[in-house]
Amino acid sequence: MKIIGTGSALPEKEVSNDMLAGFLDTSDEWISTRTGIHTRRLLSSDNLGDLAITAAKAAIESAGVNVNDIDYIICSNVANNYVTPSLSTIIQGGLGDECSSPCMDLNGACAGFLYAIDIAEAFLATDRAKNILIVCAEEPTKFCDWHERETSVLFGDGAGAVVVTGGDNLLARRVTAKSLKDVIYYKRPLENTPYDRSSQDQKTLVMKGHDVFRMAVRSSMNDINTLLEEQHVNPDDVKYYLLHQANMRIIDSIREHLNQPVEKFPTNLQRYGNTSSASIPILIDELVRGGKIQEGDLLMLSAFGAGFVTGGALMRW
Ligand code: COA
Repeated sequence: MKIIGTGSALPEKEVSNDMLAGFLDTSDEWISTRTGIHTRRLLSSDNLGDLAITAAKAAIESAGVNVNDIDYIICSNVANNYVTPSLSTIIQGGLGDECSSPCMDLNGACAGFLYAIDIAEAFLATDRAKNILIVCAEEPTKFCDWHERETSVLFGDGAGAVVVTGGDNLLARRVTAKSLKDVIYYKRPLENTPYDRSSQDQKTLVMKGHDVFRMAVRSSMNDINTLLEEQHVNPDDVKYYLLHQANMRIIDSIREHLNQPVEKFPTNLQRYGNTSSASIPILIDELVRGGKIQEGDLLMLSAFGAGFVTGGALMRW
């Protein structure tokens, strides 16, 4: 498998830490020292479907393929306005009538991009598809209670996309899951029925921050070390470690464990916050468009999220 095109799109509305401190009991100092986040983008008059379509079109254009060359769309999304139809079918509609590929959504939480890579690789390897569009589109700011400072300051909305095709650039990948319902969750109500009235059971995002922090560092280290060992790669030979953009201190801790220089850990969480599964493809798109990733570069990707799920990939650009 190899990535042949990238794209991303962010909401227009930029919200600084100081703006949050205007209505929450928080401060720029607390947020930036605890997380590294300074501003984030939030959907306001724009919507997630349009953002996903913009990112998808940019990825297809940079891949140099036609819309009718896309023969599968995988969308990574935790939740959005539409429970059904899937966001991937909404993206397909936005690409125009020439696109008639099958579509699927997957919920791999913040590791969704790595889960999508894993599935896409299997489809390509078995000739189920030739060009797959992966779009990670997320609006986690809408899971939060905006009266609660613990969660709402951490997230941002956004979309990142790639087009993948056959190739041997994906050297190794790894996905894991361990059912842990209480460390991070968000419950939406369904309709009550005459037989089940439990649907009032709604809960905005709940997170045990310390537990997630510890599990994030431990699981990412485990995925990265496993992939390096499996492929007999020295950590020094990796050009960039592209980690889920959740918290600068998590990234710093992983970097210190790996004993690697800060330049190898590009970040954008300062500007966008945690955009869930969109964070790594947005980062990749920015690095590619900025000329920072070159052909032949060795990249390590690693993410973790609610579930608890994790994913990693070692790839040559
Ligand atoms: N502003 C000011 N104070 C805040 C605050 C905010 N936005 N959010 C929490 N606090 C307070 C708490 O109420 C608590 O106060 P108390 O000690 O009086 O009870 C205190 O700050 C907690 O501080 P601390 O223990 O130092 O926080 P932390 O170092 O664990 O950082 C997180 C908190 C959430 C930033 C950190 O745990 C984290 O990033 N965890 C991982 C989260 C994550 O990545 N989630 C996404 C997974 S995909």
